[in-house]
Amino acid sequence: MPNLNVPTLAIITGASRGLGQSTAFQLAKRVDSGSVMYLTARTQERLDETARQIKQEILNEVEVRCVSADLSNEDSIREMNRKIFETVGDVSRFSHAIIIHNAASLGIISKNAREMNDVPSIQQFFLLNMTAPIVMTSSFLKCTNGCRSSSLRQTVVQITSLAGSRPQKLMHLYCAAKSGRDMFFRSMAVEGSKVRILTYEPGAIDTMMFKDALKTNDAEFRANLDRISGEDFFLSPKESASVLVKLLEEDKYENADIVHCYDVLGLNVNV
Ligand SMILES: NC(=O)c1ccc[n+]([C@@H]2O[C@H](COP(=O)([O-])OP(=O)(O)OC[C@H]3O[C@@H](n4cnc5c(N)ncnc54)[C@H](OP(=O)(O)O)[C@@H]3O)[C@@H](O)[C@H]2O)c1
Repeated sequence: MPNLNVPTLAIITGASRGLGQSTAFQLAKRVDSGSVMYLTARTQERLDETARQIKQEILNEVEVRCVSADLSNEDSIREMNRKIFETVGDVSRFSHAIIIHNAASLGIISKNAREMNDVPSIQQFFLLNMTAPIVMTSSFLKCTNGCRSSSLRQTVVQITSLAGSRPQKLMHLYCAAKSGRDMFFRSMAVEGSKVRILTYEPGAIDTMMFKDALKTNDAEFRANLDRISGEDFFLSPKESASVLVKLLEEDKYENADIVHCYDVLGLNVNV
């Protein structure tokens, strides 16, 4: 079984709160000394606080570098890529390189699909939820493919949602982006390479995004979310992040097939 406890380069988007922040903690506990973690999100203070807590609570020598960036802005994506991939240094010191595409937004959930006519806001949404993961993956693979050591393992994780395979009123953009991303990474998988691709569906989690979804005007959907938030299977970010790290540790998933958190937990959940 491949070991996570090796010098690792890890890049996590949306690491300032929620699932991304918990994943950063869980991963920092597993990797070996000499690892470097890049955490990105818009809010510098929350990234710095995450980095401070990792350093305080985790005893191994993991270097945490915070890069604030707005992934809904083209220049900011370019700048963030530069700040990460031009500063990472000699990647042959790592045995494993992981990028986790976690940052996302729900987009405009106050209008019906047929009313979506504002080009700039739609473009911004897709920059964050579609374009950024695609171009970051390309930069990540270019950077880590250039490694002199052919034993460097490469893993791409992309966080999906049930919304990617189930249409949902007022969640049109989110559903479209998750579905499109799933297919992008499935297409990358059939190109064939040694890159491992984990598409992880994290279940319903108690985060800011879930609270934002409760602001929907669709009463039926809101009632369903309310019900879910009272169920045993409503997860903390830590619980879902633990499953994600376990999947990385076991490394048994099929490339780019959707892995459902509840299946891993053995829960029969109907959401
Ligand atoms: N919560 C759920 O029930 C649920 C269910 C299924 C799938 N998911 C998926 O799980 C992942 C994590 O979601 P979450 O629930 O943890 O959400 P969250 O609490 O809202 O966190 C989202 C993260 O993305 C960052 N982010 C948002 N907009 C950004 C932007 N324009 N540029 C850069 N970073 C940005 C946020 O940081 P800043 O605000 O600091 O930028 C934050 O760190 C997402 O991919 C989501 O689709 C969640």
